[in-house]
Amino acid sequence: MSWAASPKEQLRARLLELAEQGLDGWPAEGPSRPGRKRSRAVEAPAAEAEPAGRLARPAPSKPAAPKAPAAPAASPARRPLGQEDDSVWAEFGLQELGSYLRDCTRCKLAQGRKQVVYGVGDPKARLMFVGEGPGRDEDLQGEPFVGKAGQLLTAMIEKGMGLQRSDVYIANVVKCRPPNNRDPETDEVEACERFLKRQVALVEPEVIVCLGRFAVQCLLRTKTPISRLRGKWQQYEGTPLMPTFHPAYLLRNPGGKRPAWEDLQAVMAKLGLERPGRG
Ligand code: URA
Repeated sequence: MSWAASPKEQLRARLLELAEQGLDGWPAEGPSRPGRKRSRAVEAPAAEAEPAGRLARPAPSKPAAPKAPAAPAASPARRPLGQEDDSVWAEFGLQELGSYLRDCTRCKLAQGRKQVVYGVGDPKARLMFVGEGPGRDEDLQGEPFVGKAGQLLTAMIEKGMGLQRSDVYIANVVKCRPPNNRDPETDEVEACERFLKRQVALVEPEVIVCLGRFAVQCLLRTKTPISRLRGKWQQYEGTPLMPTFHPAYLLRNPGGKRPAWEDLQAVMAKLGLERPGRG
């Protein structure tokens, strides 16, 4: 500038310069200007100003990335079953897990079942029985092995082994009734077997009796026929497992009762139990 400009003229000239550079207006149009949002950079310190306490997190080393659009209330426990990750229930106790599974929709068996049939018996039983999956009676009553085959199993436990049904724990590989009592399908077993595994881990039985071809082949990951497996000790997740015939098979093939009884006697010997009436 070649003339001696007044401070007012100098200011005007500076504003014109700024206007040419596209920077006009900013001092007058501060954050409170209607229609303009504060930038994230302005909002961020408010979040950082959260007082240290229960929700305090370590300060991020880099400036926080812009947040994703607000997600719906993010409690993993409230996500629909089938979408949650296993850590949601991994610490549940036996009863808690049963309540949690009541509304399970992890597999297609949920569509036809009346109830989830979780398990029954002593939560600290020394002996656990594992079957295939609920039938019609179990689906109606919500308890494993209560139909005709179940009555035979109860007799085997009570009359044969001299125990009470309530002394043992009884569960199935799948917890919902397959339609028309068909075998559970691979995806159904895959969705459900983790819960049986957790039941076994929680009950910590000394011995598992596995009932019938389907459950035995499933737990042992084998295709070997039950006729070759029964009576021979196996292991499931580190627990001794005795394969034997399913009581439904025994109802149709009474000739299998004698070998099944031998299997149960081997189980009793392992548990140090006396045969009833032998003092
Ligand atoms: N058969 C099974 O395998 N489980 C039951 O609970 C009933 C019948």
